[in-house]
Amino acid sequence: MVKIGPVDLGEFPLLLAPMEDVSDPPFRALCKAQGCDMMYTEFISVEGLIRDATKSVQKLDIYPEERPIGIQIFGAEIDSMMRAAEIVEDAQPEVLDINYGCPVKKVVCKMAGAGILQDLDRMVKLTDAVVRATNLPVTVKTRLGWDDETKYIEEVAERLQDVGIKALSIHGRTRKQMYKGEADWSLIGKIKENPRVKIPIFGNGDIDSPQKAKLYRERYGVDGIMIGRAAIGYPWIFREIKHYFETGEILPPPTVEERVAAARQHLTHSLEWKGPKLGVLEMRRHYTNYFRGFRNIKAWRMQLVTQDDPAAVFQVLDQIESIYSGMEQQEVMQR
Ligand SMILES: Cc1cc2nc3c(=O)[nH]c(=O)nc-3n(C[C@H](O)[C@H](O)[C@H](O)COP(=O)(O)O)c2cc1C
Repeated sequence: MVKIGPVDLGEFPLLLAPMEDVSDPPFRALCKAQGCDMMYTEFISVEGLIRDATKSVQKLDIYPEERPIGIQIFGAEIDSMMRAAEIVEDAQPEVLDINYGCPVKKVVCKMAGAGILQDLDRMVKLTDAVVRATNLPVTVKTRLGWDDETKYIEEVAERLQDVGIKALSIHGRTRKQMYKGEADWSLIGKIKENPRVKIPIFGNGDIDSPQKAKLYRERYGVDGIMIGRAAIGYPWIFREIKHYFETGEILPPPTVEERVAAARQHLTHSLEWKGPKLGVLEMRRHYTNYFRGFRNIKAWRMQLVTQDDPAAVFQVLDQIESIYSGMEQQEVMQR
């Protein structure tokens, strides 16, 4: 059994990666329904939390069905991180996760996110302070290192474990790589070979099919896999991987009805949670993936991403369903 502190995640958990403007409650509900075992909020600025900024505070919202969940924070100052840890604890997630992986310039230049990969002593000190400031199990998500010359992740795993983190998720890229190239899990595998490392190690980066999940699980010996981009507009990735692990079979892809139902539910919850304006706007990034590969979908997609009125967007979804649902799968998809 894989455990984060007292939180039991089953034999081989699949985790939803924290993704800004994506891993919100409406999206998380869909992933949970498809078998995701553990999820994280998008990252939340500790400075925003302390200032009580509405946008940051709203990101603390958790719904009972989605547990267990980790709230992810990013920041650079010890005092702010400790105060934010208390605020997070009040929101009662199962886990508090620290982001040491965000590569975006405005974050790293303040030494938050992946910025701290340039100063490991500081990373350890900051983590130690957060662990002491909260009763929640603390986890960390990070990258291999700052650049090719500083892939210190094996040292990082030991040192962070020593100050009390309860699990480590590793994206197999450096900060310098951003999202380029292919994620390299070989150092993640080496950490799993280190007998001193006892905490669960979750591998992350480029898992986009059941076959790849199985291959990487076996090759690198990780305790679970974290999935990000492949779940956007495709929450079925979780059930497909689970089914493949259990039976060795590839499930048929979701039907047109399932895809439309997911998009509809996603939009409905987005409207409830974000209000009509943002709810419509922030859904736009998802439609391409819900209907990826559909023959002649372009004109419909254009409508989905240009209509401002929620009722009009729902109507387009109805039309997509009525057009494609009578077709055979081969007809729906472009070759
Ligand atoms: C749109 C987007 C937003 C992201 N936001 C966050 C974030 O808030 N916190 C974080 O730790 N990582 C964030 N990431 C990185 C992902 O969690 C993950 O590490 C990365 O996408 C690699 O995994 P994947 O190949 O499965 O997508 C983000 C990635 C994307 C694509």
